[in-house]
Amino acid sequence: MTILEEFVVEGVRAVQVLDSRGRPTVKSYVRLKGGALGWGISPSGASRGEREAVEVRDGGKRWKGYGVGIAVHNVNKVIAPRIEGLDARRQELIDRLLIELDGTPNKSRLGGNATTSVSIAVARAAASQSGLELFKYLGGPDAVGLPIPIMNIINGGVHAGNELDFQEFIIVPHGFDSFVEALRAGVEIYHYLKEVLKREFGPNALNVGDEGGFAPPLKSAFQAFDLIERAVMESGYSIDSQVSFGLDAASSQFYRDGIYTVEGKSLEPQELMDFYEDLASRYPIVYLEDPFHEDDVEMFRVATSRLGSKMLIVGDDFFTTNPKTIVTRGSKGAGNAVLIKINQVGTLTETLNAISTARDLGMAYVVSHRSGDSEDPFIADLSVATNSVMIKAGAPARSERTSKYNRLLEIEEGLGINARYSGRRLKYLLKSL
Ligand code: PGA
Ligand code: ZN
Repeated sequence: MTILEEFVVEGVRAVQVLDSRGRPTVKSYVRLKGGALGWGISPSGASRGEREAVEVRDGGKRWKGYGVGIAVHNVNKVIAPRIEGLDARRQELIDRLLIELDGTPNKSRLGGNATTSVSIAVARAAASQSGLELFKYLGGPDAVGLPIPIMNIINGGVHAGNELDFQEFIIVPHGFDSFVEALRAGVEIYHYLKEVLKREFGPNALNVGDEGGFAPPLKSAFQAFDLIERAVMESGYSIDSQVSFGLDAASSQFYRDGIYTVEGKSLEPQELMDFYEDLASRYPIVYLEDPFHEDDVEMFRVATSRLGSKMLIVGDDFFTTNPKTIVTRGSKGAGNAVLIKINQVGTLTETLNAISTARDLGMAYVVSHRSGDSEDPFIADLSVATNSVMIKAGAPARSERTSKYNRLLEIEEGLGINARYSGRRLKYLLKSL
């Protein structure tokens, strides 16, 4: 068999599996003539942006409407016959074919859940046939940077059953020399936080939300950060020089008709801005995601000009990993960082385009999981391949989250002395944005 033949796609197949919320999702397999088998599982969000790629779901009573039989059928009957016979290394060509076969602006015909899983499986198959680690296959020999694991350790919003309006209270362990040391700090702080919460509120406060962070009965962001601050202090790490904080407001979820309902108050956009400035003056915040509604370009611009020199102002629902939206909004100074979620756009090629678009605009980017995720650690490899300064993968608990951290541990170990932890890069990056 020639080298070219080895990489030819021999078969594509999808099955329905479950995500971490117990909802069906699509797992695709791509088998090459040379014997390599690639796979990929589509994650699924709960606080989704309006312009995201659409998940095709079956509706009806079975699986409470969440079944993905149609999307699986789309992989097996529509996508497979068109991809079989192609060279798996031609990711762009295959992804373009997926886009054309779908033919809609938001993957609503085939389903972003179908295309995402196939696109990941193609990359994995090609990497495996090449005999290369996935991050090396995608990123080349320079892929040696390990991201800062930013961990959502208190969950609120639509990810938790408490009354916190903001969705994610995050720790950013940047002041360390290696990924493993940063991860260890995050793990220790997580366990100290558990003790702090138990002392303060009793065992009922130890339940966790969708991303593995605790979901205590809190109402205020200040209270949440105070508790995290106590956990960091008890763990013995230094606040600010080693561990800073982050917040994903996910503000589209509490916005209606020009008003943000936060902690029982109805806030005008400008008042919400003041609230963020207050938080930022009280805590060492280096990361603020979706501070305003996903279409409020002007307030994103205001947030970036007021706070963007000391923190990443990150667009998640605001950019939806879409290269065109990143250009139109990013070039106006609305946001200085882009959250990268492959299933928001539906193919690896479009995801890589979003990253290069952000880079060209001088913006940072952060590779991210979804609140409904799986054992697929793809984003760990993607973060190293693209030298993403951070990875957003939830609390250091529950296997769909730790699968990403565990893969990064493995990558750092494999790189040995060549590995470079991105933590110290953060302050230079903030100056450059
Ligand atoms: P989602 O939320 O995966 O539920 O959309 C995660 C986030 O907002 O970052
Ligand atoms: Zn978000």
